[in-house]
Amino acid sequence: MTDGARTIAVSGAASGIGRALADLLRANGDRVIGVDREETDVRADLAASEGRAEAVRGVLERCGGVLDGLVACAGISAPEPLTIRVNFYGAVGLLEGLRPALAAAPAPRAAVVGSISGTQPVDRAVVAACLEGTEEEAVRLAGEARGGTLYPSSKSALARWLRAAAVTPAWAGAGIPLNAIAPGVVRTPMTAPLFEDEATRKSMDDAVPMPLNGYAGPEVVAEALRWLIGPANSHITGQVVYLDGGAEAMRRGPEVY
Ligand SMILES: NC(=O)c1ccc[n+]([C@@H]2O[C@H](COP(=O)([O-])OP(=O)(O)OC[C@H]3O[C@@H](n4cnc5c(N)ncnc54)[C@H](O)[C@@H]3O)[C@@H](O)[C@H]2O)c1
Repeated sequence: MTDGARTIAVSGAASGIGRALADLLRANGDRVIGVDREETDVRADLAASEGRAEAVRGVLERCGGVLDGLVACAGISAPEPLTIRVNFYGAVGLLEGLRPALAAAPAPRAAVVGSISGTQPVDRAVVAACLEGTEEEAVRLAGEARGGTLYPSSKSALARWLRAAAVTPAWAGAGIPLNAIAPGVVRTPMTAPLFEDEATRKSMDDAVPMPLNGYAGPEVVAEALRWLIGPANSHITGQVVYLDGGAEAMRRGPEVY
């Protein structure tokens, strides 16, 4: 650890993007508290409220109640209701649970990992339940929805929650920028199966065209997250930043910005 090192909690730190971010932060002298259901500093299952409470407790113990940065990165892409529990409620639970510790730091920053999928067709009832209802209602509706809409729904709900929360007294008023990086296709264990068969890969390329430099590596996402949660980011908040080689601009066109 170097003088002036910041303490940053990263969920999903055991694999893929979260792991690349944890490595990058540590290499630059920050202290990282990993949170994951797999091997890391704080082992907890973010799919369940008890696991979220354990995660918050574990981070608070290790940071002494003062946290400089938080990145909610843990996620899954299964076509089942669990995806809503982990990607939406797991991320929001961690952010809300650790917000007081962030507010106690001199230059706190928070970010989530969204997805280009948040711009794809969603199940509106599931998204509405995430934003206005209860977790059990959202999960019940997710059980009735088309499985393929659940990952986009989880990431859309997360982006909408973030845009509303970021400008409130609890976040902006407490000096905490809150943003998302929304990747296109990143080569990690999550996407490895998509490359195994040509037809799947083609439909992925059709859905997420990446004219600038193709698929990204997890270290590219890590660099962007590091800047967003770094001290230099004093004024960007409530933004969903597409790190997607141009996919969002291609799919939504110039009218959306
Ligand atoms: N890889 C991509 O192309 C891509 C694209 C857009 C968004 N994302 C998002 O990036 C984030 C990271 O994905 P990745 O590609 O690095 O995947 P990954 O599978 O390599 O890593 C995900 C991590 O989250 C952890 N995790 C999953 N469920 C958990 C739970 N219930 N409790 C605690 N930890 C849990 C896993 O153990 C794993 O360490 C996810 O939110 C994903 O939706 C990925």
